[in-house]
Amino acid sequence: MANILVAYYSRGGHTAKISQAIAQQIIAQGDQAEVVNINDTNEIQWDKFDAVALGACVLYGSYHKSVFEFTRQHQHELASRPHSFFCVNVVARKPEKRIPENNKYLQKFLELSEWKPQDVKIIAGKVDYPSWTWYDSLAIKLIMKMTDGPTGSKDVIDYTDWDDVNQYAEHVVHLAK
Ligand SMILES: Cc1cc2nc3c(=O)[nH]c(=O)nc-3n(C[C@H](O)[C@H](O)[C@H](O)COP(=O)(O)O)c2cc1C
Repeated sequence: MANILVAYYSRGGHTAKISQAIAQQIIAQGDQAEVVNINDTNEIQWDKFDAVALGACVLYGSYHKSVFEFTRQHQHELASRPHSFFCVNVVARKPEKRIPENNKYLQKFLELSEWKPQDVKIIAGKVDYPSWTWYDSLAIKLIMKMTDGPTGSKDVIDYTDWDDVNQYAEHVVHLAK
């Protein structure tokens, strides 16, 4: 039985929800999983885990600095077991942007992170204008306008393909075995 660590950075909660879904699927398939917010944990007992999936949402074309701090601090622990990085963003609502080579945010992570993940996944996130500040909403609307996405102030659209999230969970377990 594999034990998988699902660690994440989430600003608004959607990457957290995806991480929980990954763990639930792993457990439903008979393995073990633990979900950890990288900013809400003091110590990870790395030895318990056979593999790790680290997820982070894209914010203004990059990632929160704590994501890079975490990967720098735990570079060895991440690299010394099967691992995967999943990147959550709304440009990935377009299927071609879920191909790693076509997703500039994933490429940016690979460029900036000292930990170079052996396995990567791009997951479409959620547009949620009502929960964002006017400034954030305005900025995302501009991105959406440039990429033919939704720009209505009340728009709440979950672009995540949850079946694909389940498949990814199974893929991570396969990495561990
Ligand atoms: C402040 C802010 C900036 C964002 N910047 C981008 C961006 O540059 N490109 C993109 O595709 N998505 C961007 N997004 C969309 C998020 O990646 C998406 O909403 C994701 O689901 C957020 O996950 P979270 O709820 O875990 O924070 C941004 C969202 C916010 C709130």
